[in-house]
Amino acid sequence: MTQSEAAKRVAELKEERNAVILVHNYQIEEVQLLADFIGDSLGLSQQAADTDADVIVFCGVHFMAQTAKLLSPEKTVLMPDPSAGCPMADMITAEQVREFKAQHGGAPVVTYVNSTAEVKAESDICCTSSNAVEVVNSLEEDTVLFVPDEHLADWISRHTHKTIIAWAGYCPTHVRINPETVAYMKEQYPEAVFITHPEARHEVIDLADEVTSTAGMVSFARESDAQQIIVGTEEGLVDRLRRENPEKTFYVVPHTICPNMKKTSAAKVVDSLEKMQFEIEVDEAIAERARRAVERMLEVS
Ligand code: 13P
Ligand code: SF4
Repeated sequence: MTQSEAAKRVAELKEERNAVILVHNYQIEEVQLLADFIGDSLGLSQQAADTDADVIVFCGVHFMAQTAKLLSPEKTVLMPDPSAGCPMADMITAEQVREFKAQHGGAPVVTYVNSTAEVKAESDICCTSSNAVEVVNSLEEDTVLFVPDEHLADWISRHTHKTIIAWAGYCPTHVRINPETVAYMKEQYPEAVFITHPEARHEVIDLADEVTSTAGMVSFARESDAQQIIVGTEEGLVDRLRRENPEKTFYVVPHTICPNMKKTSAAKVVDSLEKMQFEIEVDEAIAERARRAVERMLEVS
């Protein structure tokens, strides 16, 4: 199926089903081109909460579709490939969150949205990479537990006076960004600026001109005077950056593929709408508590 055949079929099916297609910035380009909305985790959550559609087709990974279902429980949320998970989200269980909290005198738990609904249900509030510092600073307590990403926790602790106690989870894609490779690329392209994601390691962040979410990188690329940009995040974002800024040059840090983000294709999106598959459900007892943590985040930003 060509891109234009897929786009035509998706347009017909969207009309029939009253569906909307939400796409994360790391998706492959043929999927990005089908999006009604393309963005970062925060933007996608806001869209999922606000849409009037009956059906949300979520092109991203499982925790993102789950979050959409939490925020729009009356809607049908579909994932074209439900096997697209996030290894970081699986690095902590609900039971481990309860134990972590008990070990630290019941301090509040801030949970990165890259987590399961069961883990969100044990949390006081969620955050994304766009609003993490704001969320942490919105709490009254001076000591905060942060799960599951230790690198995002480290980055937050550079921007708050609060004490952050982090769970030792990480994103396997972002920790592969190697500071020596980045330093070498900066030497090769002395005119270029380096942008990265707060899921990257401390030594990589130290080399960055800008550290932000994927949507923050899209705005940075558009607004910055820099004509050359080295991009240290999952490489799917670079397709969007090149499409939207054809006059600028983008260099991709190697070994930055998230295999789960590559599982969805245009053909699977068509199948998903045709067959109304694969539906994402969250147990209502868990959903009710998880929703509270996500909604509390959306009240902050
Ligand atoms: P954002 O798009 O929110 O920056 O998230 C990055 C990410 O790793 C999602 O899996
Ligand atoms: Fe998870 Fe990292 Fe892939 Fe995002 S890029 S889905 S955090 S493994």
